[in-house]
Amino acid sequence: MKNLWSSRFKKEMNQMVEEFNASITFDKTLYRQDIRGSIAHATMLQKMGHLSPHELEAIVKGLSDIEKKIASGELLFTYKDEDIHMAIESQLIKDIGDTGRKLHTARSRNDQVILDVRLYLKEEMEEIFEILKGLLETLLHQAEATKEILMPGFTHLQHAQPVTVGFHLMAYFQQFKRDLMRLQGCYERTDENPLGACALAGTTIPIDRHYTAKLLGFKTVTENAMDTVSDRDFIVEFLSFSSLFMAHLSRISEEFILWNAQEFSFIEIDDGFCTGSSIMPQKKNPDIPELIRGKTGRVYGHLMGLLTVLKGLPMAFNKDLQEDKEALFDTVKTIKTSAMIFTEMLENTVFKAPDMKKHMEKGFLQATDLAEHLVLQGIPFRTCHELVGKAVKYCEEHDLTLEDLTEESLLLIDQRLAGMSLPDLSMEGSIERRNSYGSTAPKDVERQIASGWELLRYV
Ligand code: ARG
Repeated sequence: MKNLWSSRFKKEMNQMVEEFNASITFDKTLYRQDIRGSIAHATMLQKMGHLSPHELEAIVKGLSDIEKKIASGELLFTYKDEDIHMAIESQLIKDIGDTGRKLHTARSRNDQVILDVRLYLKEEMEEIFEILKGLLETLLHQAEATKEILMPGFTHLQHAQPVTVGFHLMAYFQQFKRDLMRLQGCYERTDENPLGACALAGTTIPIDRHYTAKLLGFKTVTENAMDTVSDRDFIVEFLSFSSLFMAHLSRISEEFILWNAQEFSFIEIDDGFCTGSSIMPQKKNPDIPELIRGKTGRVYGHLMGLLTVLKGLPMAFNKDLQEDKEALFDTVKTIKTSAMIFTEMLENTVFKAPDMKKHMEKGFLQATDLAEHLVLQGIPFRTCHELVGKAVKYCEEHDLTLEDLTEESLLLIDQRLAGMSLPDLSMEGSIERRNSYGSTAPKDVERQIASGWELLRYV
């Protein structure tokens, strides 16, 4: 079959080139958006007097039939069909004859392809938005359930200060909340109608871009035709949102893997989210958080890939831009499945309070509490730091915990501690006493959870 654009050529396309050039194997994903865009375009053409009502009807019917046939698998494409735009247009001409030859009036594949991608991404972003909201809700539920469960807080993966599981989960809530907001921003910039930019410079044929924007549900219309066909910023933004989202998902997955290890035993990952070993009968491995952590790499790769494609491209459309799609489709699939699976895994995770509490006996978690208690008795903080450092050394040498200290032992540690009282060094006391805004105190975590629910109500 000769291509619709081939009349100026003397020779057939090289076989290998034909396959190399084709994007149909992956851009067939866009068939629904392509047809939706074509129907809106034809509707506009009819309104502007370029098609009769009868012609419009034939085109709409023809396109709808093609959509059904693609959906049912009756219509299959090969690389010979080049891309989804040529494939559908050729099929339409085959099905309805010469009227089909009018569809591409005042349109180029350059604005057509970016229209399809914008329509596709808007739909996907709406779904991803809901999935992210689901993850945020699950974090809030789990934080509520665990806001009093004590665990060691870490810096450098060393015991630092007592915190609660709820507080720890709410830290992730904030990170994913910002991801949700980034997604909203990206959606806004995607929500612009590119149709009517044509090849790069607009058209001499009277069209109405604001009308197609309305038909297709775009908030606004792009401003400059040349920019419109060369711009892939919104895809980069989406890949960048996705990369950061995966970074956050990967960090929490990493913690789940650690916490699930025998050395920690902070959590029990549900059987449904683990796999066994082909040789070691006792094994229950956290493959799912590992896979999520692993898949983060490919999403970063897609972002770097597209940024590299864009670097150095002259205006306006260049075929390099066809390389945006596989990256985008794979990212969409990866972040959706990773987020949905993680959410379900989180819902079904058991936090092992007694094991966590047991771990807290090690590592002098209340050292800063003790120093702060001395500050409140009038000693300069730097001196308190030094004194508590000595107390820790003393405890280590005598195999004691800070809770074992008495006022007598304080004197043995340093004379400057004479007359100083000791605070309640229980883990519960440490948590409760924290009164700064945003702290791990259950009261503050409750406030954080409430403001989280409030946010989810209006986004
Ligand atoms: N298949 C192309 C893409 O994915 C469509 C645009 C082709 N435009 C062109 N003038 N060759 O980007």
